[in-house]
Amino acid sequence: MIIGVVGLGAMGLGIAQVFAQAGHPVRATDAADAARASARERMAAALAPRVAKGAMTGAERDATLARLTVVDTVEDIAPAGLVIEAVAERLEVKQAVFRSLEPLLPADAVLATNTSSLSVAAIAEGLARPGQVLGLHFFNPAPVMKLVELVAYAGTTAAALDLARSLAEGAGKVVIACPDRPGFIVNRCARPYYGEALALLEEGRTATEIDAAMVAAGYRLGPFALIDLIGADINLAATESLAAAMGGHPRYHVFRALRDQVARGELGRKSGRGFVFPAEPAPPPADAEAIALRIEAALANEAAWLLSEGGVTAEGIDTAMKLGLNFPRGPFEARARHGADRIRATLAALEAAAPPHLKTRYLPAPEPSP
Ligand SMILES: NC(=O)c1ccc[n+]([C@@H]2O[C@H](COP(=O)([O-])OP(=O)(O)OC[C@H]3O[C@@H](n4cnc5c(N)ncnc54)[C@H](O)[C@@H]3O)[C@@H](O)[C@H]2O)c1
Repeated sequence: MIIGVVGLGAMGLGIAQVFAQAGHPVRATDAADAARASARERMAAALAPRVAKGAMTGAERDATLARLTVVDTVEDIAPAGLVIEAVAERLEVKQAVFRSLEPLLPADAVLATNTSSLSVAAIAEGLARPGQVLGLHFFNPAPVMKLVELVAYAGTTAAALDLARSLAEGAGKVVIACPDRPGFIVNRCARPYYGEALALLEEGRTATEIDAAMVAAGYRLGPFALIDLIGADINLAATESLAAAMGGHPRYHVFRALRDQVARGELGRKSGRGFVFPAEPAPPPADAEAIALRIEAALANEAAWLLSEGGVTAEGIDTAMKLGLNFPRGPFEARARHGADRIRATLAALEAAAPPHLKTRYLPAPEPSP
C-alpha cells in the first residue's frame, strides 16, 4: 500500500523511513522547498549508520531510498491508502492539510495525525469522512523507537483503526491503543516522574540524590538527567500544555523550580548546564528507597486515573511507558512490586502533608475492577 507523509521535518522524515524500510512506496511532501529538496539526502544520512554497523545492506538502503518519492504538492500524494501528517503542531494547520487531502484520496483512505498534544477529534472536525481520522503517535527518533500510540476518538471507525494498526505493526512497531485524551499515554503518565522529583527538590532534596535514588531503583536516567536530555524548556512546555488541558489540576502542577530553571537558561545538555548536567552521577542517599517509592506511587496513581477514564488497558500503559521512556517497569508493575497497600499509604501520607496549592494532588484513583 502507498503511504503518504505530509511534513518532512524530524518526525515526518523518520516516519517516511519506517514505512519505506518496511517495503511500502512512500509519497511525501513538505510546504518548505528546502525540506523537500534535502529529504532524500537526510534519509540517506539516517540510514548510513545502519549500513555501517551491518544492520542493513547497501542494496537494502538503496531499495529503501528508491521507495521514497518526494512530491511538490499534496495532490501528488493522492493514491495513498494511509496518509500521516507531521506538520507544525497547530490545529488550523493540521485541519487545513486534511481538508485539502480528503477529496483527493480513496474513500477508505485513513488520515493519521502525529500530533503530540492536539485533540484528534478537533482535527477531524469539518471533514466529509471524519471516521477515517485517527492518531498515530510516533516517538522520536521514529525509526528507532518501537512504540506507536494508536489514538481513537469517538468517531474513528473500526476499519480505519484496523488498517492503521496492521500497517504500523507490519512496519515493526508495537501499537498501543489509547483514547483521545490530553497527552495520550506516555506524555501524560510521565508527568509525575518529573513532577514528584521537582516537588522533592522544592522540599530541599538535591537533584543529584533524587536522580541517584531512581537509578538505584533501575531507571536508566533519573528525572533530572531526563529533563536535561529533553531540554527544560521542552519539558516546561509539555507540562504547561497538559496542566492547561487538565484544567490546572494539582496533579499537573507546574513547579516553580522548573520555571526558574528555564528562566535562567539552564536548559540541560543543549545549553551546557542543567539540573544535574554536566555533573557525574552520585551514589544513592540512605533513603533512596523512600524516594523511589514516592515517585512510583505518583506514577502508579496517574496511570490508574488514566485507566479509570477508559479506552486503555493496564498492560497497554505498562508497555507504553517501558517502550516510550525506557522505564524498567510500567506503573502497574511498580504498584504490584510495592503492593497496593503501600502505594495507598504513601499517597495518603503525601496528601495529608501537601501544602495548600497541592491539596488533592495525591487523591487515589478509583481502584481498578478485578
Ligand atoms: N519532535 C518530536 O519529538 C515529536 C514527537 C512526536 C510527535 N511530534 C509531532 O510531530 C509533528 C511534527 O514535529 P517535528 O518535530 O517533526 O517538527 P519539525 O518542525 O521538525 O517539522 C515540521 C515540518 O512540517 C512542515 N510544514 C509545516 N506546515 C506545513 C504544511 N501546511 N504543509 C506541509 N508541510 C508543512 C515544515 O516545513 C517542517 O518541515 C508535530 O505535530 C509534533 O507535535 C513531534
